Amino acid sequence: MIAAIVYNSQTGSCKRYADELSRQLHIPAYALGSAPTRADGELIFVSWIMAGSIMGWKKAKKAGSIAAVVAVGMAPASEKTAESIRAKCAIPSQKPVFVLQGGFNINKLPAPMKLIMKWKTKDIARQLEAKKEKTALNAEETALLKMARTGVGEPADWNAAPVVDWVLNQYKSEGALRQKD
Ligand SMILES: Cc1cc2nc3c(=O)[nH]c(=O)nc-3n(C[C@H](O)[C@H](O)[C@H](O)COP(=O)(O)O)c2cc1C
Repeated sequence: MIAAIVYNSQTGSCKRYADELSRQLHIPAYALGSAPTRADGELIFVSWIMAGSIMGWKKAKKAGSIAAVVAVGMAPASEKTAESIRAKCAIPSQKPVFVLQGGFNINKLPAPMKLIMKWKTKDIARQLEAKKEKTALNAEETALLKMARTGVGEPADWNAAPVVDWVLNQYKSEGALRQKD
């Protein structure tokens, strides 16, 4: 049973997804570090992607048993990113890793990260502009290009449906198991 959502958010995207999951699933959401110890169930951990890994993973593991990870990044969601996070954080194969596109806001970053991302976003914009010359960008790539060009932007869609569907299916199968007993 999922007892809570624990999120780690620097500029607001992970909090927004955690709040949305909380609203749709009727499960409380807590900021990492402020969650009560949950002996009555597992957690969904929502955190932001930094250089192909998720922030706060070690601390999150101490908060309780994690049933699923929701990794939020500015790039379009991909299976490759999910697998990279799984490998870097040694997340067992039976635990899902969802990758969702979040927003980006360079103005809310601490100075050292601002500097890194100023350089990084130039590179991202260059690559996407080159791609755009040859082929049409999809909605997530278009959202990323805006973030990279302007330093601020929203994802193509705030879509938490894959996580919501997974949780609801878990309950369904747990219910089915209980009925069998
Ligand atoms: C230093 C730094 C590194 C980042 N690295 C990645 C990355 O590797 N992949 C990605 O998709 N997004 C990356 N991002 C973007 C954030 O993951 C993204 O903006 C996310 O929505 C932030 O979530 P938050 O608003 O909850 O803090 C990076 C951001 C920063 C500041």
